[in-house]
Amino acid sequence: MPAKQTHTAASVDKLLKQYANETDNFLDRWLKSMPSMPPQLGQAIRYSLLGPGKRIRPALAMMASRAVGGAARAALPTAAALELIHCFSLVHDDLPAMDNDDLRRGRPTNHKVFGEGLAILAGDAMNTLAFELLVREVRDSKLAAQLVGELAVATGPCGMIGGQVLDTCHPAEKHTPTSAQAGLKKLQTIHRMKTGALITAACRMGALAGKASPRQLVLMQELGQAIGLAFQIVDDLLDVTASESQLGKRAGKDAKLGKMTYPGFLGLEKTRQHLAKQQAIAENIVAKLGTKANSLRDLVHFLAARGR
Ligand code: IPE
Ligand code: IPE
Ligand code: MG
Ligand code: MG
Ligand code: MG
Repeated sequence: MPAKQTHTAASVDKLLKQYANETDNFLDRWLKSMPSMPPQLGQAIRYSLLGPGKRIRPALAMMASRAVGGAARAALPTAAALELIHCFSLVHDDLPAMDNDDLRRGRPTNHKVFGEGLAILAGDAMNTLAFELLVREVRDSKLAAQLVGELAVATGPCGMIGGQVLDTCHPAEKHTPTSAQAGLKKLQTIHRMKTGALITAACRMGALAGKASPRQLVLMQELGQAIGLAFQIVDDLLDVTASESQLGKRAGKDAKLGKMTYPGFLGLEKTRQHLAKQQAIAENIVAKLGTKANSLRDLVHFLAARGR
C-alpha cells in the first residue's frame, strides 16, 4: 500500500509539473507577443503570473479534457486563461484594502514590489487578457464563445468577485449568523463563490475543450463543486495548522482578520469531517468518469493531503 501511494503521489507530481511548464511557456509566449505593453506592467504581470504557484486550475482543465476523451493540449488556452484570472484574484486579494498581505508564494506580494497602483492595474490587465487569449487562441469560434461565457460567469459578480465581496466587504455583525445552520450555509456560499466557482469552471471548461458529452459535463460540474469547496476548506485548515515557511504566505491571518472560515466556525475536527465528505463526493464522481479520469482521481487525493 505505501509503495502504491508513493507511486501515485510521484506521478501526479510529475503531471502537475508538466502541465505547469506547458501553461507557463504558453503564457510567456503570449506576453512576448505584446511589445507595446508598458514594460513595468509586463514585469508586474510576469512576477505574479509566472511565480512559483501550484497551477492547480490549469492542471484541472487539462486533466478534465483528457478525462472526457480529449487531449490535454486541447485545454491549453483554457489553462492559461484560468491561471490569468486566478493570479488577478490573488494580486487583488493581497491588497491593503482586502487581506493586506505582504507574502505570497514565498515572496513579497505584488503591491509590495510594484506599488498599489501598478498591482491594481496588473490585476485588471490579467482579467482582460484572459478573455482576449481565449478569443484569439481557441480556433473553434463556437467553443471560444462558450469558454468566454463560462469564465466570465465564474469570475464575475455571482462567482469569484461576488465571493470576495462576501468574504471581505462586510460589517462585522454580518458574520454573526442567526443559527449554526445559517452560518454553515453562509460559509459554504462564500467558499463556493470565491474559490469554488473558478475551480468548477476549470473542470467544465477543460471538459468543453475536450468535447465532453452532456453527461460528462454534468459530472465535471459536480466534481468541480466538490473539489472547489474542499480546496478552500484545506486553505482554511492550513492557515491554522501550517507554518509560514511551509505555506509561502502568512499563517494565522484569517482569525486576525475576523474571516469566516471552517475551522473558525466548526473547529478542526468537524472541519476535517466536512473535508472528508467533499473528498468522498469527488472520488465517487471520478469513478463514474472511468479510467481516463485516473489522473483527476490522483489529483483529488493530492489536493486533500496538500501541505501548501
Ligand atoms: C490560493 O490558491 C487562494 C485560494 C483560492 C485558496 P492556490 O493555493 O491555488 O495558490 P497558488 O496558485 O498555488 O499560489
Ligand atoms: C482567496 O481566499 C480567494 C481568492 C483569491 C479569490 P484567501 O484570502 O483565503 O486566499 P489566501 O489564503 O490569501 O491565499
Ligand atoms: Mg481573501
Ligand atoms: Mg487572502
Ligand atoms: Mg486563505
